Amino acid sequence: MSKRVYIFDTTLRDGEQVPGCQLNTDEKIIVAKALEELGVDIIEAGFPISSPADFKSVEAISKNVKNVSVCALSRAVKKDIDCAAEALQFAKHPRIHTGIGSSDIHIHHKFKSTREKILSQGVDAVKWAKKSVEDVEFYAEDAGRANNIFLAQMVEAAIDAGATVINIPDTTGYCLPHEYGKKINFLMENVTNIHKAIIAVHCHNDLGLSTANSISGIQNGASQIECTINGIGERAGNTSLEECAMIIKSHADLNFHTNIDTSKISGISKLVSKLMRMNVQPNKAIVGSNAFAHSSGIHQDGFLKNRNTYEIINPEDVGVESSSIILTARSGRAALYYRFSQIGINVLPDELDRLYSKFLIEADRKKLITDDDLISLYELHGIKISK
Ligand code: KIV
Ligand code: ZN
Repeated sequence: MSKRVYIFDTTLRDGEQVPGCQLNTDEKIIVAKALEELGVDIIEAGFPISSPADFKSVEAISKNVKNVSVCALSRAVKKDIDCAAEALQFAKHPRIHTGIGSSDIHIHHKFKSTREKILSQGVDAVKWAKKSVEDVEFYAEDAGRANNIFLAQMVEAAIDAGATVINIPDTTGYCLPHEYGKKINFLMENVTNIHKAIIAVHCHNDLGLSTANSISGIQNGASQIECTINGIGERAGNTSLEECAMIIKSHADLNFHTNIDTSKISGISKLVSKLMRMNVQPNKAIVGSNAFAHSSGIHQDGFLKNRNTYEIINPEDVGVESSSIILTARSGRAALYYRFSQIGINVLPDELDRLYSKFLIEADRKKLITDDDLISLYELHGIKISK
């Protein structure tokens, strides 16, 4: 029996911190409903104390989604926590996400404080949040760079104070996968009450390791992944939801499962990209426009013989209709023949060589050859179209 991994989506909170990507309440409701359809377990809807609009959005999302937990962020400050609780008052499953820095860099430079004082502020915050909601998640900010012994003390104290979920963020995206995994493992083995809470991974992508770190985290005992659609987020972004969901689905050997309906991934990726006015890079794993496009001759030939030669994911599994064969100057005869057949032109073997050399000249000039180009190519070279 594989282990359930909970998906905590923070597109509307950490993801929305991207400059220029702010959404209004109506847009946030649209995304929240799509996330619910996708099958996420928790939606982090916002940071209510940060602005009246964010408060309103958390409240509106709480009223509009019913089958997932709705979470609101707060600092370890009473007025933040009270504001989060108020914004969540209509949520069927409310969660407050409160916490404080755990690394010495944060403790000394951001808070100008000491480990002892910060730990006790964190504990007080959990206790205060517990007065409003049962489900309280505690984040130990910058845990990636925190001293593991102190982190373990902080986690133990937060669980004792009533935290139901403990978030171990690699806030700056600094950790290496084996190192982050070891950190989670250290907590699993050294925090005596760890079995009373769910451990969450929350990894940023500054070194391009957020997904690898998240997977390493669940392999070492964590059971919640915090992530965003398209991996959006401040700086280099957050862990990408679609990458984690597809790693877990593709690697049965990991022995995990999620509740994500992966066939909805492409749709929600486009929705978020459109509403946030943030294009997805073409080579982005799973959701980039080239993720299922084959353009070089050797790959195309192999793919056309058997798609498994160059594809490990069935595009339909993520809601993409089909793979595509792109025609460029790097394409081969097999691809050219295939694309002609796709538009109903049956190229005879002796025509193919001739057309291929003309095609290469055109492709070098134009970079990308379209269906219309193919028709012109066919007509120009004096061969009657045999449909
Ligand atoms: O990256 C981080 O540490 C965070 C916390 C506020 C959870 O986003
Ligand atoms: Zn974050």
